[in-house]
Amino acid sequence: MSLFVKNIKRLVGVRQEAPQSPLKGKEMETLPCLDNAWLLTEGDRIKAFGEMSGTAPETIGAMEDGADGVIDAAGRMVFPSYCDSHTHLVYAGSREMEFMDKLRGLSYQEIARRGGGILNSVELLHNTPEDDLLRQTLVRAWEIISLGTGAVEIKSGYGLTVEDEVKMLRVARRVGEETPLRVRTTFLGAHAVPARYKGNREGYVDEIIRDIMPAVAAEGLADYVDIFVEEGFFTVEDASRIFDAAARYGMQPKVHANQMSFSGGVQVGVKYGAASVDHLEFTGPEEFRVLQDSGTIATLLPGATFFLDMDYPKAKQMLEYDLPLAIASNYNPGSCPSGDMKFMMALAMIKMRLTPETVLNAATVNGSFAMGTAAEYGSITPGKKASFFITKEIPSYEFVPYSFTSQLIEEIVLNGKIINR
Ligand code: NIG
Repeated sequence: MSLFVKNIKRLVGVRQEAPQSPLKGKEMETLPCLDNAWLLTEGDRIKAFGEMSGTAPETIGAMEDGADGVIDAAGRMVFPSYCDSHTHLVYAGSREMEFMDKLRGLSYQEIARRGGGILNSVELLHNTPEDDLLRQTLVRAWEIISLGTGAVEIKSGYGLTVEDEVKMLRVARRVGEETPLRVRTTFLGAHAVPARYKGNREGYVDEIIRDIMPAVAAEGLADYVDIFVEEGFFTVEDASRIFDAAARYGMQPKVHANQMSFSGGVQVGVKYGAASVDHLEFTGPEEFRVLQDSGTIATLLPGATFFLDMDYPKAKQMLEYDLPLAIASNYNPGSCPSGDMKFMMALAMIKMRLTPETVLNAATVNGSFAMGTAAEYGSITPGKKASFFITKEIPSYEFVPYSFTSQLIEEIVLNGKIINR
């Protein structure tokens, strides 16, 4: 199967060579584009791209004749698929009643202390058979595909027992088999202390290390390990124990860090070589200095900051410290029931004053680095997966985050195949 897309008004995120490391600081301001372009795919890969006007008509004709499918993208733009590097896509049911509690004035932590929040989802998931859980998750998976996402990280963390953590991660892997999404998985056993360990957090960390993590590793179900380092959840010491254990199974750390307080999550993540530290509402110069040149990506989750009505991370200051930023949706039933990466980019622009170039890079190239898929996703680069979307007629790429609730996608290609939604 090969596709020839011609007359592309603007091909966004073109990089002849794949970046070898995440973009940081000022580099994030540059978004390479090609105007009046063509794009050729072969099998599941991007084969080549070029300018219509700079290419001989016979060559264009030959590519068109040789392709299995031709798309005329006149007036329309092509973007690399979004790489959503932080989600909790696998969950059962929903938590809109807690949303009402929040509107009545209860905080995220107060709801959690009452046994709601994450533990509410734990109970719902426990009572949901694996196939039903998959069915519910696939609805969200196809939803994010239709919104332009091509690669996604999915965490466990609503199981908190051997059986249920394994069930969640199996479902996450099955999403990667049953949809064209590239799925990376993360073991988040340390998401909340389950009711059976109330008052004995360390006992639960023992169980994670002794029973749950080995069971997850035995089935090869997780690429990463994560922990929610926060008052009322887990400590820096717990993180060290879990990361030491995870190293034996080759699971690289990630951290839910500094969401509700200056928790030390950033520092412990960097110390253990985390791929990313995520959330970062409570960060300042001390954390930024620790992150500088560390190789750890600062992942912003503006949808959760918005939904919980909190103050936003100081993203512009992070760029001044030359940090690499990623933006992810954090799709989950408690703090962000949305996987719309366009909305996340718009929030990052409106609330954190980031530029369209920065947010597009954060949602594509840097997102792919944050989940270890950068060799294949995140930019329009020959040899990478042919995963992109074609917009409706739009005047500029700035129009995408500007027009923040409009459906602007006309055609989706994932792994070289046109996706019928
Ligand atoms: O990333 N902060 C912890 N975990 C999720 C929320 C999970 C939930 O409330 O169900 C987050 O925001």
